[in-house]
Amino acid sequence: MPIEPRQPTPTDQRPIGVFDSGVGGLTVARALMDLLPDERIVYFGDTARGPYGPRDLRQVREYTAQIVAWLAAQDAKLVVAACNTATAATLETNPLQFDVPVVGVIAAAVDTAVRSTRNGRVGVIGTQGTIMSGAYERAVAAAAPDVKLFSQACPRFVQLVEAGRTTDADVLVEVADQLAPLAAAGVDTLILGCTHYPLMTGVLSYVMGPDVLLVSSAEETARRVFGRLVDGGLLAHVASAEHRFVASGDPGVFAGLATRFLGPRLSVVDVEHPGKLAT
Ligand code: DGL
Repeated sequence: MPIEPRQPTPTDQRPIGVFDSGVGGLTVARALMDLLPDERIVYFGDTARGPYGPRDLRQVREYTAQIVAWLAAQDAKLVVAACNTATAATLETNPLQFDVPVVGVIAAAVDTAVRSTRNGRVGVIGTQGTIMSGAYERAVAAAAPDVKLFSQACPRFVQLVEAGRTTDADVLVEVADQLAPLAAAGVDTLILGCTHYPLMTGVLSYVMGPDVLLVSSAEETARRVFGRLVDGGLLAHVASAEHRFVASGDPGVFAGLATRFLGPRLSVVDVEHPGKLAT
Protein backbone atom coordinates (compact mmCIF):
# COMPACT_ATOMS: atom_id res chain seq x y z
CA MET A 1 0.00 0.00 0.00
CA PRO A 2 1.61 3.32 -1.00
CA ILE A 3 2.05 5.71 1.93
CA GLU A 4 0.56 9.16 1.32
CA PRO A 5 2.96 11.94 2.30
CA ARG A 6 1.52 13.78 5.30
CA GLN A 7 2.11 17.41 6.05
CA PRO A 8 2.82 18.82 8.47
CA THR A 9 3.40 15.89 10.86
CA PRO A 10 1.14 16.48 13.84
CA THR A 11 2.48 15.68 17.29
CA ASP A 12 0.86 14.87 20.57
CA GLN A 13 3.24 15.04 23.50
CA ARG A 14 0.91 13.37 25.98
CA PRO A 15 2.11 10.03 27.35
CA ILE A 16 0.87 6.54 26.52
CA GLY A 17 -0.75 4.85 29.52
CA VAL A 18 0.10 1.18 30.03
CA PHE A 19 -1.24 -1.03 32.79
CA ASP A 20 -1.12 -4.58 34.03
CA SER A 21 -1.93 -6.57 37.15
CA GLY A 22 1.75 -6.24 38.04
CA VAL A 23 5.08 -6.38 36.27
CA GLY A 24 4.13 -8.61 33.31
CA GLY A 25 2.89 -5.69 31.20
CA LEU A 26 6.44 -4.40 31.19
CA THR A 27 7.08 -6.84 28.31
CA VAL A 28 4.56 -4.76 26.35
CA ALA A 29 6.08 -1.50 27.64
CA ARG A 30 9.47 -2.74 26.51
CA ALA A 31 8.18 -3.54 23.02
CA LEU A 32 6.60 -0.06 22.88
CA MET A 33 9.87 1.60 23.93
CA ASP A 34 11.70 -0.31 21.20
CA LEU A 35 9.24 0.67 18.47
CA LEU A 36 8.41 4.17 19.72
CA PRO A 37 11.48 5.63 21.44
CA ASP A 38 10.05 9.17 21.30
CA GLU A 39 7.00 8.31 23.41
CA ARG A 40 6.67 8.80 27.16
CA ILE A 41 5.01 5.96 29.06
CA VAL A 42 3.09 6.08 32.32
CA TYR A 43 2.97 2.51 33.59
CA PHE A 44 0.62 1.33 36.32
CA GLY A 45 1.23 -2.09 37.90
CA ASP A 46 -1.57 -3.23 40.17
CA THR A 47 0.76 -5.31 42.34
CA ALA A 48 -1.43 -4.85 45.43
CA ARG A 49 -4.34 -6.68 43.75
CA GLY A 50 -2.56 -8.87 41.19
CA PRO A 51 -2.30 -11.51 39.93
CA TYR A 52 -5.58 -11.19 38.05
CA GLY A 53 -5.41 -14.67 36.49
CA PRO A 54 -7.16 -16.49 39.35
CA ARG A 55 -9.66 -13.66 40.07
CA ASP A 56 -13.32 -13.41 39.13
CA LEU A 57 -13.49 -11.58 35.79
CA ARG A 58 -16.15 -9.17 37.15
CA GLN A 59 -13.64 -7.98 39.70
CA VAL A 60 -10.99 -7.61 37.00
CA ARG A 61 -13.46 -5.43 35.04
CA GLU A 62 -13.89 -3.19 38.06
CA TYR A 63 -10.14 -2.83 38.60
CA THR A 64 -9.58 -2.14 34.90
CA ALA A 65 -12.20 0.63 34.87
CA GLN A 66 -10.52 2.28 37.88
CA ILE A 67 -7.04 2.08 36.38
CA VAL A 68 -8.06 3.37 32.94
CA ALA A 69 -9.80 6.33 34.63
CA TRP A 70 -6.63 6.99 36.64
CA LEU A 71 -4.45 6.88 33.51
CA ALA A 72 -6.86 9.19 31.67
CA ALA A 73 -6.51 11.60 34.61
CA GLN A 74 -2.71 11.43 34.05
CA ASP A 75 -3.47 12.81 30.56
CA ALA A 76 -2.79 9.57 28.67
CA LYS A 77 -3.61 9.96 24.96
CA LEU A 78 -4.12 6.22 24.58
CA VAL A 79 -4.12 3.37 27.08
CA VAL A 80 -2.69 -0.10 26.49
CA ALA A 81 -4.31 -2.85 28.55
CA ALA A 82 -1.03 -4.78 28.75
CA CYS A 83 -2.64 -7.73 30.48
CA ASN A 84 -4.38 -10.59 28.74
CA THR A 85 -6.69 -11.25 31.67
CA ALA A 86 -7.80 -7.59 31.84
CA THR A 87 -8.24 -7.52 28.05
CA ALA A 88 -10.29 -10.73 28.14
CA ALA A 89 -12.46 -9.31 30.93
CA THR A 90 -13.11 -5.86 29.49
CA LEU A 91 -12.43 -5.51 25.79
CA GLU A 92 -13.32 -8.73 24.03
CA THR A 93 -16.69 -9.63 25.52
CA ASN A 94 -19.30 -7.08 26.52
CA PRO A 95 -16.68 -4.32 26.12
CA LEU A 96 -16.51 -1.53 28.68
CA GLN A 97 -16.74 2.04 27.37
CA PHE A 98 -13.84 4.33 28.24
CA ASP A 99 -13.17 8.08 27.83
CA VAL A 100 -9.80 7.37 26.22
CA PRO A 101 -8.90 4.93 23.41
CA VAL A 102 -7.86 1.57 24.89
CA VAL A 103 -5.86 -1.06 22.99
CA GLY A 104 -5.82 -4.62 24.36
CA VAL A 105 -3.36 -7.44 23.79
CA ILE A 106 -5.62 -10.09 22.29
CA ALA A 107 -6.79 -8.81 18.91
CA ALA A 108 -3.36 -8.05 17.44
CA ALA A 109 -1.93 -11.43 18.41
CA VAL A 110 -4.95 -13.28 17.04
CA ASP A 111 -4.72 -11.38 13.80
CA THR A 112 -1.06 -12.34 13.31
CA ALA A 113 -1.62 -15.96 14.36
CA VAL A 114 -4.50 -16.63 11.96
CA ARG A 115 -2.55 -15.07 9.10
CA SER A 116 0.56 -17.10 9.93
CA THR A 117 -0.82 -20.59 10.46
CA ARG A 118 -0.19 -22.97 7.56
CA ASN A 119 -2.29 -25.87 8.80
CA GLY A 120 -5.17 -23.89 10.37
CA ARG A 121 -4.35 -25.18 13.88
CA VAL A 122 -3.42 -22.50 16.40
CA GLY A 123 -2.70 -22.90 20.11
CA VAL A 124 -3.02 -20.34 22.89
CA ILE A 125 -1.68 -20.48 26.43
CA GLY A 126 -2.71 -18.08 29.19
CA THR A 127 -3.90 -17.66 32.75
CA GLN A 128 -6.94 -19.48 34.11
CA GLY A 129 -9.03 -16.30 33.75
CA THR A 130 -8.03 -15.65 30.15
CA ILE A 131 -8.60 -19.22 28.98
CA MET A 132 -11.87 -19.65 30.91
CA SER A 133 -13.23 -16.38 29.47
CA GLY A 134 -13.26 -17.86 25.95
CA ALA A 135 -12.04 -14.47 24.64
CA TYR A 136 -9.44 -16.03 22.34
CA GLU A 137 -11.97 -18.52 20.92
CA ARG A 138 -14.33 -15.67 20.06
CA ALA A 139 -11.57 -13.51 18.59
CA VAL A 140 -10.31 -16.37 16.39
CA ALA A 141 -13.83 -17.34 15.29
CA ALA A 142 -14.48 -13.72 14.28
CA ALA A 143 -11.14 -13.28 12.49
CA ALA A 144 -10.89 -16.67 10.73
CA PRO A 145 -13.77 -19.12 11.21
CA ASP A 146 -11.79 -21.90 9.48
CA VAL A 147 -8.96 -21.81 11.99
CA LYS A 148 -9.20 -24.24 14.88
CA LEU A 149 -8.00 -22.96 18.27
CA PHE A 150 -6.61 -25.19 21.02
CA SER A 151 -6.41 -23.52 24.44
CA GLN A 152 -4.40 -24.42 27.48
CA ALA A 153 -4.31 -22.65 30.85
CA CYS A 154 -0.80 -22.60 32.34
CA PRO A 155 -1.38 -20.96 35.71
CA ARG A 156 2.03 -21.92 37.17
CA PHE A 157 4.06 -20.18 34.48
CA VAL A 158 3.51 -16.71 35.99
CA GLN A 159 5.00 -17.84 39.31
CA LEU A 160 7.95 -19.49 37.57
CA VAL A 161 8.79 -16.35 35.62
CA GLU A 162 8.47 -14.14 38.69
CA ALA A 163 10.80 -16.49 40.56
CA GLY A 164 13.30 -16.07 37.70
CA ARG A 165 12.96 -19.75 36.73
CA THR A 166 12.82 -20.10 32.96
CA THR A 167 15.57 -22.55 32.07
CA ASP A 168 16.13 -25.22 34.73
CA ALA A 169 15.46 -28.94 34.22
CA ASP A 170 12.24 -28.97 36.30
CA VAL A 171 10.85 -26.06 34.29
CA LEU A 172 11.58 -27.92 31.09
CA VAL A 173 9.65 -30.96 32.33
CA GLU A 174 6.74 -28.84 33.57
CA VAL A 175 6.47 -26.88 30.33
CA ALA A 176 6.63 -30.06 28.23
CA ASP A 177 3.89 -31.53 30.37
CA GLN A 178 1.61 -28.48 30.07
CA LEU A 179 2.13 -28.13 26.34
CA ALA A 180 1.71 -31.81 25.53
CA PRO A 181 -1.97 -31.48 24.50
CA LEU A 182 -1.12 -28.62 22.13
CA ALA A 183 1.79 -30.53 20.62
CA ALA A 184 -0.48 -33.57 20.21
CA ALA A 185 -3.08 -31.37 18.49
CA GLY A 186 -0.47 -30.47 15.88
CA VAL A 187 -0.63 -26.70 16.27
CA ASP A 188 1.86 -24.90 14.04
CA THR A 189 1.38 -21.51 15.70
CA LEU A 190 1.29 -20.75 19.41
CA ILE A 191 0.00 -17.49 20.89
CA LEU A 192 1.71 -16.45 24.11
CA GLY A 193 -1.52 -15.20 25.69
CA CYS A 194 -0.02 -13.88 28.90
CA THR A 195 2.34 -10.98 29.46
CA HIS A 196 4.85 -13.14 31.34
CA TYR A 197 5.35 -15.74 28.64
CA PRO A 198 7.69 -13.81 26.31
CA LEU A 199 10.29 -14.39 29.03
CA MET A 200 9.82 -18.13 28.49
CA THR A 201 10.34 -17.99 24.74
CA GLY A 202 13.47 -20.15 24.99
CA VAL A 203 11.86 -23.08 26.78
CA LEU A 204 8.54 -22.79 24.90
CA SER A 205 10.29 -22.84 21.57
CA TYR A 206 12.56 -25.71 22.65
CA VAL A 207 9.58 -27.81 23.74
CA MET A 208 7.34 -27.05 20.74
CA GLY A 209 10.14 -27.37 18.18
CA PRO A 210 11.32 -25.12 15.37
CA ASP A 211 8.26 -25.67 13.17
CA VAL A 212 5.92 -23.97 15.63
CA LEU A 213 5.76 -20.19 15.32
CA LEU A 214 5.46 -18.34 18.64
CA VAL A 215 3.34 -15.18 18.50
CA SER A 216 4.01 -12.71 21.31
CA SER A 217 1.07 -10.51 22.19
CA ALA A 218 3.56 -7.89 23.47
CA GLU A 219 5.22 -7.31 20.10
CA GLU A 220 2.03 -7.56 18.08
CA THR A 221 0.31 -5.05 20.34
CA ALA A 222 3.22 -2.61 20.13
CA ARG A 223 2.92 -2.70 16.34
CA ARG A 224 -0.79 -2.04 16.58
CA VAL A 225 -0.20 0.93 18.89
CA PHE A 226 2.39 2.27 16.44
CA GLY A 227 -0.26 2.19 13.70
CA ARG A 228 -2.90 3.84 15.90
CA LEU A 229 -0.56 6.72 16.77
CA VAL A 230 0.53 7.27 13.18
CA ASP A 231 -3.00 7.08 11.75
CA GLY A 232 -4.45 9.28 14.50
CA GLY A 233 -1.75 11.95 14.26
CA LEU A 234 -0.85 11.14 17.86
CA LEU A 235 2.90 10.57 17.60
CA ALA A 236 5.10 12.43 20.08
CA HIS A 237 8.57 13.81 19.55
CA VAL A 238 10.14 13.98 22.97
CA ALA A 239 13.89 14.64 22.95
CA SER A 240 14.64 12.11 25.68
CA ALA A 241 11.58 10.19 26.76
CA GLU A 242 11.25 9.86 30.55
CA HIS A 243 8.90 7.13 31.72
CA ARG A 244 6.93 6.91 34.96
CA PHE A 245 6.28 3.68 36.83
CA VAL A 246 3.57 3.48 39.47
CA ALA A 247 2.78 0.40 41.58
CA SER A 248 -0.19 -0.05 43.87
CA GLY A 249 1.86 -2.41 46.08
CA ASP A 250 5.40 -2.32 47.44
CA PRO A 251 7.54 -0.13 45.11
CA GLY A 252 10.71 -2.05 46.07
CA VAL A 253 9.28 -5.41 44.99
CA PHE A 254 8.07 -3.88 41.75
CA ALA A 255 11.47 -2.35 41.03
CA GLY A 256 13.23 -5.65 41.79
CA LEU A 257 11.21 -7.61 39.26
CA ALA A 258 10.97 -4.81 36.73
CA THR A 259 14.57 -5.08 35.60
CA ARG A 260 14.01 -8.66 34.49
CA PHE A 261 10.97 -7.69 32.44
CA LEU A 262 12.26 -4.45 30.97
CA GLY A 263 15.70 -5.84 30.29
CA PRO A 264 18.87 -4.61 31.96
CA ARG A 265 20.10 -1.25 30.83
CA LEU A 266 23.45 -2.22 29.42
CA SER A 267 26.05 0.29 28.51
CA VAL A 268 29.51 -0.39 27.22
CA VAL A 269 32.08 1.17 29.52
CA ASP A 270 35.39 -0.42 28.57
CA VAL A 271 36.00 -1.59 25.04
CA GLU A 272 38.96 -3.89 24.69
CA HIS A 273 41.25 -3.90 21.70
CA PRO A 274 42.25 -7.35 20.46
CA GLY A 275 45.75 -6.32 19.43
CA LYS A 276 46.88 -7.48 16.03
CA LEU A 277 44.64 -10.20 14.58
CA ALA A 278 46.34 -13.03 12.77
CA THR A 279 45.60 -12.90 9.06
N1 DGL B 1 -0.68 -10.07 33.32
C1 DGL B 1 -1.45 -11.27 33.41
C2 DGL B 1 -1.91 -11.67 32.01
O1 DGL B 1 -1.34 -11.31 31.02
C3 DGL B 1 -0.66 -12.38 34.03
C4 DGL B 1 -0.46 -12.23 35.51
C5 DGL B 1 -1.79 -12.27 36.27
O2 DGL B 1 -2.34 -13.36 36.48
O3 DGL B 1 -2.23 -11.20 36.63
O4 DGL B 1 -2.88 -12.39 31.90
